[in-house]
Amino acid sequence: MCDQIFEEWEELTQEYNKLESVNEEYIKKLQEITSIQQACLKYIGHQRYRMKTLTQNLKDTKTDESIQKLKEGMMKRETELQEIEKTLPRQSEGFLKFILGGIDVSFLNKDDKFKYKDEYEKFKLTCHFVAFVLCLVLLNVNSKPLEQFYLGFLIWYYCAISIRESILKVNGSRIKVWWRIHHILSLLGSGIMLVWSENETWNEFRNQFIWYNIYNSFIQYLQFKYQRGALYRLKALGEMQNMDITIEGFQYWMWRGLTFLLPFLFIGYIFQLTNAFVLFNLSYHPQSTWQLSATAYLFLVLFIGNTTTTIMVVPSKLKQKLMLKNRVMTQRVYNRLLEAIKKDHNS
Ligand code: COA
Repeated sequence: MCDQIFEEWEELTQEYNKLESVNEEYIKKLQEITSIQQACLKYIGHQRYRMKTLTQNLKDTKTDESIQKLKEGMMKRETELQEIEKTLPRQSEGFLKFILGGIDVSFLNKDDKFKYKDEYEKFKLTCHFVAFVLCLVLLNVNSKPLEQFYLGFLIWYYCAISIRESILKVNGSRIKVWWRIHHILSLLGSGIMLVWSENETWNEFRNQFIWYNIYNSFIQYLQFKYQRGALYRLKALGEMQNMDITIEGFQYWMWRGLTFLLPFLFIGYIFQLTNAFVLFNLSYHPQSTWQLSATAYLFLVLFIGNTTTTIMVVPSKLKQKLMLKNRVMTQRVYNRLLEAIKKDHNS
């Protein structure tokens, strides 16, 4: 029995030696990758430095056709450099650096980015479902600890999505700055409500606030359907051959989704304006505290910011649509010409 144990231990030690050599190989490759990444960053820095010098020298030069072409080439090069940068590690900055420290939060491949964004959308939906259930309970049970738990939950949720959105931004998301401000203001609003002392004014506003949150959870569900649809379609587009035609299909889908979503969003904004109005009125109540006017202003700012940002989405999408239409038409004319030339050549 003892011999068998020794034999097994010997076998295990040999396997461990193999593991050690594989690990050594792994560490060597990691070091190689780090030095290649550093080299890429150095080359990018060098490219940018020389382009800056060229741009300065070009200032005193008369613009003719060749200079114009050179300028276009430089603009294209900058876009290419940005694409290369996306494949390299990036240090966190600003808000993220303050919260997490200077760690690398970049995803180096598209699949990881896609999974993180998908997970972010699912996280928002799950939290809004929990919030929805809590609101339904709060409508029927008047419990202060449960209300405080709910507001604490909202604070945690807005903190979590603000951090996740900053990570998405580092990884190239085009999320508009307003939506991030919106989540930080919502975090602030939930914090103020948590310290809102229990008095008559709170009791008067409480049910309206709960209904607003129920509606907000419903909108989040619609947004989830839209954003997830867009995410999966964009991923599929990246894997297809005939890009322009499939982008046309994607834009058609996006417009349908957007025109369905917009009326619900604007009802939500009117809800926010109503909240601000009710809170302003309540701020004249004899039992009024500073939290009333603070939350009233917050709802007003949310209403203005959300309405203007959402309205601005429409012309920018229309512009994209028009640009694509022109590109597709040029491509079709080009294809027809090519076919005609081929036919002519064959006959
Ligand atoms: N929160 C988080 N991310 C958002 C966002 C939001 N409200 N709106 C857009 N984004 C993200 C998109 O997912 C996309 O990300 P990506 O670059 O990683 O792919 C990026 O920002 C660019 O999106 P954009 O093309 O500008 O808009 P869209 O077509 O994705 O969405 C709307 C347009 C109007 C549907 C969307 O902005 C929206 O739902 N806004 C309403 C939010 C709101 O008002 N909430 C409160 C309700 S009371």
